[in-house]
Amino acid sequence: MPVNTIRWVNGKVRIIDQTRLPHKLIYRDIKDVQSMREAIKKLRVRGAPAIGVAGAFGVLLGIKNERPKNYREFKKKIDSAIKSLASSRPTAVNLFWALERMRRCAEGNAKRPLTQAKKLLLEEAFSIMKEDRDICRRMASFGAKLIKSGDRILTHCNAGGLATVDYGTALGALFKAKKEGKRIKVFVDETRPLLQGARLTTWELKREGIDVTLICDNMAASLMEKGLIDKVFVGADRIARNGDVANKIGTYNLAVLARYHKIPFYVVAPESTFDFRLSSGKKIPIEQRGEDEVREILGKKIAPKNIKVYNPAFDITPGRLVTAIVTEKGIFRRRRKGTFSDFHICTR
Ligand code: MRU
Repeated sequence: MPVNTIRWVNGKVRIIDQTRLPHKLIYRDIKDVQSMREAIKKLRVRGAPAIGVAGAFGVLLGIKNERPKNYREFKKKIDSAIKSLASSRPTAVNLFWALERMRRCAEGNAKRPLTQAKKLLLEEAFSIMKEDRDICRRMASFGAKLIKSGDRILTHCNAGGLATVDYGTALGALFKAKKEGKRIKVFVDETRPLLQGARLTTWELKREGIDVTLICDNMAASLMEKGLIDKVFVGADRIARNGDVANKIGTYNLAVLARYHKIPFYVVAPESTFDFRLSSGKKIPIEQRGEDEVREILGKKIAPKNIKVYNPAFDITPGRLVTAIVTEKGIFRRRRKGTFSDFHICTR
């Protein structure tokens, strides 16, 4: 059963506050653009497709109580909301993709009465949300084809319902496989520093009755060496033209380990996660986050005060380490060498 990650309720955006999971399932009503920016920045709402949807509804928060005199004033409010939301997090391209759709919708309806333009913007945000639902289901069906009964799968961070508005990306494939009656066992990296794997992915998999085992991030190599992992499934925050994948820090480690141990490494992501303007992953902006996230675990200090910290939120997995990318259009397998255009679609 998907979780209600994001909803539009009486002119507010109701989100699950993901910083409180797994111990408390708390919903928060976001009423203005600044609070939405803060919610995205602090990872109350997180995961590439989910922040796209949150951003789209965030734009509406910027105009819902405004009474602009003309289109120019209306557009100024929209542009300012988009600018603020776009400055929340830099890596997941879905956010910019959704904000761009909202901008285009406003510009495409410039000649209409403002009340109607507002209504059309709300419809656009709902379309983005509905599309995400449909896309999750399609990706899940393709992804599940890569899973067979008995598989032991490793995943990283959270690419589930909480990272989308429905079934998830990588976890969607696992949910679908389970639904098809396949027996699977899932290992979840805790995913330091913010523990999305330990807090969110285990919670989602357990809810669905999937056999789940939590491991520390540094245990993957040992499990692979012992022959306990058959496949790796992860999501993505941005994919460049050559198939390089930005995803949660630590994903690259897994891809290197998977290649060494000859384990297939699958990425599941919607087309809105592709950034075809970028020729390689080197051009993907990587978010640097606060130092205390590393000095602390869930607010508890674990390192000497003021110790120097390096805290990139994402890393880049070279496309050549990716066995296949699953999108809503199908499974794209990599040819022996080349760019993403050399990934070719196939059904298995
Ligand atoms: O920092 P987060 O929790 O937003 O990072 C999320 C991830 O890295 C996910 O793997 C990614 O967004 C894909 S989820 C569908």
